[in-house]
Amino acid sequence: MQPRVFSGIQPSGSPTLGNYLGAIRNWAEGQDKFDNIFCVVDLHALTLPQNPRELRQNTWETAAMLLAAGIDPDRSLLFVQSHVPEHTALTWLLNTITPMGWLNRMTQFKTKAGSERDSVGAGLYNYPVLMAADILAYGANLVPVGDDQKQHVELTRDIAERFNTLFGETLTVPQPLIPEVGARIMALDDPSRKMSKSEPAGAISLSDAPDVVRKKIARAVTDSLGIVRFDPSQAGLYNLLSIHRILSGLSPQEMEARFEGQGYRVVKDEVASLISDALKPLQDRYAAFQREPEIVDRILAEGADRAHDLAAPTVRRVEESMGLRARIQSTASAL
Ligand code: AMP
Ligand code: TRP
Repeated sequence: MQPRVFSGIQPSGSPTLGNYLGAIRNWAEGQDKFDNIFCVVDLHALTLPQNPRELRQNTWETAAMLLAAGIDPDRSLLFVQSHVPEHTALTWLLNTITPMGWLNRMTQFKTKAGSERDSVGAGLYNYPVLMAADILAYGANLVPVGDDQKQHVELTRDIAERFNTLFGETLTVPQPLIPEVGARIMALDDPSRKMSKSEPAGAISLSDAPDVVRKKIARAVTDSLGIVRFDPSQAGLYNLLSIHRILSGLSPQEMEARFEGQGYRVVKDEVASLISDALKPLQDRYAAFQREPEIVDRILAEGADRAHDLAAPTVRRVEESMGLRARIQSTASAL
């Protein structure tokens, strides 16, 4: 049997080039090697304030973008998290065995909550347990994510191991799958922050037209050294060269040779073209889905049914090992 992959993306805005290079592209490329499950995690998006209409729209757009990026419903299961109630059921059960101390260590919560720690919703704190439930409900072996999600996958492993120790072998312990290049694409306006949907100023959206891409890349923050080297200390340039490297397939040495004696403008022009060339087929397919939105709706409805069939037995086993369900049924049958 092929290893099972599970991964998710939040519909909290327009998917970015960071999502694509750090995650989606690898999901699409791995489809023949793995048994694939991909999820648009709308319940995760709710952990920060959302406008209901926009959330619904972003959920559809994110799903359509995944399909446009090559997620193939014949080879992968694609669905929306809130359509499958097992995710929330399992979250509650796992919450009861997750120590607060483990959640207190999560760096993403600290960053997202910032100075608002006491006023953000409890869901933001709880978010990694919902993510653990997503992964564990399907017995996933591998979780392909960008670098920022590594800590959450490690927490998922800890939760699964703790559950198995407390209640007997029930849950599969998953492993993160992090790409060597592209795991952390940085914001164009500030290469010390990661590119993020929620900060569109520094992000390239997968739906950006070539002229928008060109403008955003031209404005990307670099440095005043003026030497093209593949060196992390030149953070802005390094980010652009990393994008180039993934899309062109050139090695760092080949890139340095190619740009020797050239200014950053040449690098930027090439990077912008590579991005637009990569996005073009995706945008064409996305436009086709927009013309026939019911295709996406149907894929998501079928996906939710199949996901439910896969997750329900796991959640049932978890409930039974924790002392739920079984006794109620035997009492009922005794009456
Ligand atoms: P999110 O947008 O937080 O739902 O992320 C969906 C997937 O994209 C996750 O696997 C993230 O790790 C990945 N991802 C998000 N932003 C970036 C980025 N700037 N660089 C690389 N991967 C990213
Ligand atoms: N938290 C992830 C992110 O923001 C999204 C996510 C939710 C996820 N559930 C998941 C990723 C399960 C992998 C597996 O990027």
